[in-house]
This record gives sequence, structure tokens and C-alpha cells, in this order.
Amino acid sequence: MNPTPETKIPSARETFRLLRRLLVYTRPYRGVMGAILVLTILGSVGMNVPPVLIRNAVDQWIGDATLALDVRVNGLLRTGALFFGISLASLVLRYLHAIVAARMGAGVVRDIRHDVFRKALDLHLQYFDRTPVGRLMTRVTSDVDTLQRFVSDGVVGAVADVFQILGVFVFMIYVSPVLSLALFLIIPFMAAAFLFSNTRVRIANREIRRAQSALNTNAQEALAGMATIQLFGREPTIRERFARLNGIMRDACFLEVRWFSFYFPVLDFAQAVATILVLGVGGACILSGYGAVTLGVLIAFLTYVRDFFRPLDGLSNRAGMLQQALAASERIFELLEEPQRIPDPPAPVPLPAAGPIAFEHVHFAYVEENWVLRDVSFRIEPGETVAIVGATGSGKTTLINLLLRFYDVQQGGISIGGIDLRSVRRHDLRRRIGAVMQEPFIFSASVADNVGLLDPAISRATIEDAARYANADGFIRKLPHGYDTVLNERGGGLSAGQKQLLALARAMAQNRNALLILDEATANVDSETEALIQDAIRRVMKNRTGIIIAHRLSTIRHAHRILVLYQGKLVAQGTHDELLRQDGYYRRLYRYLSLNNGQAPAPE
Ligand SMILES: Nc1ncnc2c1ncn2[C@@H]1O[C@H](COP(=O)(O)OP(=O)(O)OP(=O)(O)O)[C@@H](O)[C@H]1O
Ligand SMILES: [Mg+2]
Repeated sequence: MNPTPETKIPSARETFRLLRRLLVYTRPYRGVMGAILVLTILGSVGMNVPPVLIRNAVDQWIGDATLALDVRVNGLLRTGALFFGISLASLVLRYLHAIVAARMGAGVVRDIRHDVFRKALDLHLQYFDRTPVGRLMTRVTSDVDTLQRFVSDGVVGAVADVFQILGVFVFMIYVSPVLSLALFLIIPFMAAAFLFSNTRVRIANREIRRAQSALNTNAQEALAGMATIQLFGREPTIRERFARLNGIMRDACFLEVRWFSFYFPVLDFAQAVATILVLGVGGACILSGYGAVTLGVLIAFLTYVRDFFRPLDGLSNRAGMLQQALAASERIFELLEEPQRIPDPPAPVPLPAAGPIAFEHVHFAYVEENWVLRDVSFRIEPGETVAIVGATGSGKTTLINLLLRFYDVQQGGISIGGIDLRSVRRHDLRRRIGAVMQEPFIFSASVADNVGLLDPAISRATIEDAARYANADGFIRKLPHGYDTVLNERGGGLSAGQKQLLALARAMAQNRNALLILDEATANVDSETEALIQDAIRRVMKNRTGIIIAHRLSTIRHAHRILVLYQGKLVAQGTHDELLRQDGYYRRLYRYLSLNNGQAPAPE
């Protein structure tokens, strides 16, 4: 309920692994990266040449009194023109650099997002059982965004910063080795002060993100469960918890501001110290005539001091970005590397057109050793309608999950027409089964699209036909816009029974005639809809192999045969009359259902 995001710092080896993995995604952009590198180097040169021009202007054209006046004026004009030209070129280069880098970043991230979603579509359901939807959403959205910022700004910017700093170094030494030496002496102290405050800012920043995530999760959950919260009067608890998290968030924000308020002055102070040092040493050199320092050299050098600090600031921000990106990519790659636990066979066998369904000594557990089904064996002949009954949690839906191969059995096997499910393709299997799930999902789309599921092969006529067949047409036509009424994602506006009818229409529209599975909703349905459902089931199950998981007596009566499940074991099977005569668990269950439905036991 209160997940903290994983913000542990990965080891060096892990860092390399993640970076290598990320780099794979930049492979298609190798040409672009080459272009970026060239632009970076040109940009660095463009930044570092102007101080040399200033030095020339000051020392030669302004300071050298031995030259003729027109030569000096000409020289100044030429230098000015060159300066202007270089600045203009820099402007264009930097614009291009930003555009190209952003494009590459967006491209890389599109590819990653694509892979993440494709992977999610292909993942086995067990993964979704143990991963909260919120966390998956974070992966698809904010983790990917973090990567985007890192790839388009972080990596490219860091490379540009490094080149800029290297360029400044080279030009500093070129302009004046003596002043460079003086400056390099204090760099370790600067770096230490700088790293100290920067680390603090980053830690505070991590706290903020942690608090933010907790706050979001909490708010999201509270909003989603609003009806339950208000129903049970839990508002004060929720309000208190929110207030607590909100307070943590405020503290974290304040901490960051505090260190930031320290960080920038530190940066400015370091720059001032460097400037004072260069001024002092440079001034002394000029006065004493030592080290060939001139006024022009000093001015140029002071410009380099400023240019040296600018990328330093960027670089430290990017170090933080790298950390965030590593955490994000770790989570993303963890998802991408999740093995498919329900693999398609290497050499799939086609499913026979018809044939009995057989469960043979099936043992199954969702979680290790926690057996949900124990030694379940039964056969369903073609054309037969079988009802499965049992108390809640006895494993009825689980049987269906296994038949649809959402999960694989741990022991035993399931076959259709003698072919084991594990040797056919999942897609082939599911195409042959029409299933109405216990809690049908309604997409935020029109009613028609919810029935046809955007399959272009399913025409509007087919959709309406299926709806009529499933007795859903009546209520659909009464909706404000009929088949074009847009439903929201939680199926809002539809009653439980209507959702079931819609799901039945959906299964019919997909026209998978061979086998129909119906996992009856436990929710109570008004008697009118109940009658519609029963009528639809009777029609749909006719001449068809069908499995009905029944919670209502009226449904059980349609079945040819009944399987009775008790705590994961098949305890009895037979017709309704046979089972009643056995005086066992079924009799008690039957009596319970009769009472529960408020209906008298059937007269037969
Ligand atoms: N995804 C899952 N992960 C772990 N355990 C599960 C999962 N789904 C179901 N179970 C457990 O398996 C057992 C059987 O559940 P199942 O959904 O098959 O019951 P059911 O007979 O369909 O019940 P109901 O009549 O309420 O629909 C239950 O104990 C349940 O807690
Ligand atoms: Mg169930």
C-alpha cells in the first residue's frame, strides 16, 4: 500500500551492464551520433576561439603602438568580423546540436517504449499477479521519460560539457601555461566543495521523488477506491495518511531548496576565488615581466575561467540524471528481460477441429506448493455442456485459466482432441475458444467496439447479430446512442448483468464456435436480466461444447453433466439427478444455492 520506489544505487558492474544495454538502442542512430560528435567538437572550438581573438585585439591592434594606425584599425575590423562570423556559426551549430540530439533521444525512447509495451502484451499473467498496475504504469510512462531526458540531454550534454572543459584546458595552456598552472592548483579544492554540495542536492532530490511517488500512489488509490472509503467512513484515516505524506514531501522540498541555496553561492564563490587568483598571479606576472603574460592574455584567461565553470555546473546535474536514468533503466530492463513462462512450442502442432477436452491428473498452484488444484481428471465430449460447481475459492476459474493456458499446470496435462495444450500455439488455442470471463473487462470505447474489439474482420452487422443472439441487443438499443454509446473504462453505466450480456455478445462476435466457456459472474442480477441471460445461454450452448461455471441453479439445469469441485479436488460428477441421489456434498451445495437464490428447489 505504501511502496517506496527502488532508489538504490547500482554497482559499477551493474552500471556498465545497463549502459551497454541502453547503448544497443542507440545503434540505429550511429550516423546521427557521429554528426552530434562533430557538432560537439566544432561547438567547443567555436566557444574557445573568441578569447584568443580578444587577446589579439588587445595586445596587437590596440596595445602595439609600433604599428601604423590604419593597420591597427584594419586589424580590429577584421578581428571583429571574424568574431561575428564565429559567433553566428556557433549559434547555428548549437541549434543543430540541440535539434539532432533531441530527435535521437526521442527516437531511442520511442523504440524502448515500443518494446516495453510489446513485452507487456506478450507477458504471462503471473507477472501481472505479482506486479501492481501502478508500478507497470510508472515503467511505461515516467521511467521511459527519465530515459528520454537522459538520452537526449544527459548523454549528449555530458559529452558536450566534457569537450567544452577539455577545450578550455587546451586553450588555457595554449594562451598561458603559467596562469593555467596557478589555476590547476586550486581545482582539487573547488572540486571537493562542489561535489559536497552537489551530492547533498541530489540526495534531497531523491527524497523528493520518493515522497512524490508515495503521495501519488496514495492519492491514486484513494481516488480509485472512493466509494469504498466513503461507504465505510474511512475519510479521516485517508486524510491523515495523506497529510503525513504531504508533510514529508514539504520537508524534502525544503531540504532541496536549502542545499540549492548553498550550492549556487558555492559555485559563484569558487569562481570568484579563481578569478582573484588569476588576477593576482597575472597582475604580478605583468608587473614583473615573468611568463610572457600580457594584458590581452589576462583578459582572455579570465574569459576561460568563466567558460570553465559553466559546463561544470551542467556536468554535475547530469551526474544526477545518470543516476535517475540508471534506476529507471534497471526497472525497464527487468521487465524486458522477464522470461516468458508460457512459451509457444518451437514446433507447434495444429489443434484438431473437434475432440474431447481432457484434464489428466492436473496439479496446479499459483504460488509454489500452495496447491489450488489437486489431481483433477475429467473429460468433456464434443457437443456436451458441462457445468462446474463448487464453493467460492474451490478452483473453478482456475480450471478455465489453465484451459486457456494463462498458466501452465505443474503436474499432469490438459489436451484437446488428444493434443496437449503445451504443443499448440497459444494464439491458435485461444482463437478456438470463446470465453466469457467472470469479471468481463469493459474498454473505454463504444459498445460496438467493445463487442467487436476493433477487429476489422468483424462487421457492424456481425456485431449486432451477435448482440441479438446474446440477448444484449435490447438494452444496447436503449442506451443514449445505441451501439455508439461510449462506455468508460470501468464499465460505468452498465449493470453487472448487462456487462455479462455484453461479454457474451463479444464471445459470440468473435465467432469461435468450437468451444464456449462461461464463467458466471457472482454478482447478483435482477430477475429480468437473469431471464435474458438464461435464455441466451440456452441458445448459445445448443449444439456446442460448453463449460459453464455456475453460481445459479437455473444455469446448472442447462448442463448435461455436472462436475463438483471441493477445495481443488473433483469430488463428484454426474447428472443433476444422479448427484442428488448420492447424498453427498452436491446435495448440501444444491440446498445452499437454492436458499441463496431465494428460489425453491426445482421440482424435477
Ligand atoms: N492470480 C492468482 N494468484 C494467486 N492465487 C490465486 C489467483 N487466482 C486465484 N487464486 C487462488 O486460487 C484459489 C482458487 O481460485 P478461483 O478463482 O479458481 O476460485 P473460484 O472457484 O473461481 O471462486 P469463485 O466462485 O469465487 O469465482 C483461491 O484460493 C484463490 O485465492
Ligand atoms: Mg471464479
